[in-house]
Amino acid sequence: MREQKVKAALEEESVLTPTYASREMTESIPKHAIPKQSTAPETVYNLIHDELIMDGNSRQNLATFVTTWMEPEAKKLMSECFDKNMIDKDEYPQTAEIESRCINMLANLWNSPDHETATGTSTIGSSEAAMLGGMAMKWNWRDKMKKAGKPTNKPNMVMGANTQICWHKFCKYWDIDAREVKSEGNRFTLNAEEALKLVDENTIGVVVIMGSTMDGKYEPVKEVADALDTYQQQTGIDIPIHVDGASGAFIAP
Ligand SMILES: Cc1ncc(COP(=O)(O)O)c(C=O)c1O
Repeated sequence: MREQKVKAALEEESVLTPTYASREMTESIPKHAIPKQSTAPETVYNLIHDELIMDGNSRQNLATFVTTWMEPEAKKLMSECFDKNMIDKDEYPQTAEIESRCINMLANLWNSPDHETATGTSTIGSSEAAMLGGMAMKWNWRDKMKKAGKPTNKPNMVMGANTQICWHKFCKYWDIDAREVKSEGNRFTLNAEEALKLVDENTIGVVVIMGSTMDGKYEPVKEVADALDTYQQQTGIDIPIHVDGASGAFIAP
């Protein structure tokens, strides 16, 4: 009977049939539904642990020019906080305080004169930071246009063709025209001259990357900022910059 069951399960694509020898492994475990019966935690751990071997190895991920190694103590602290609902700042005020100190440290690293009162937030990754920064630029631009009695239905954003995919996602989610400075010859990043050709009064901002995802190169933030200041003097249009410091923000200063 059991043999038949195992055979049937083997033939059925939607079940996972583990090869371990423990008694409970003689039953197949469904892949897409919660099993009717419980399974021992160590069995579940082994199963999922082994499935994850199929993933890439993050220690060998050199694609984004950042290291993924951390001290075991850092991992220990993280695991001690897994069960906290970080967004609930009333219940976990000390976590909120430490988050705030990290923001101050980052502001200090970037020579902010008011680093002890700097505003900021932690995010799950740079993609979320891009969403928040991008949204702030869109709302500021929209307020400015409304005050000037101008239409607000055609926002655009200027970036290099080398930007990380999160900026394209941002533009898609928020209905923004993504204007790309194309790579040319040996130039794989945006520069001031080319960025300036794409901006207009509907530009919510220009993304400049410190640590291009393609080759790790820093884009010329000052050059672009100076060019946008000159553009403002000539046209009266003030266009902000978002510096994407996903890989360089802790290193560049
Ligand atoms: C320049 C740049 N911006 C944004 C991101 C997105 O970061 P995350 O994967 O942490 O969301 C990356 C990630 O590689 C990046 O290199």
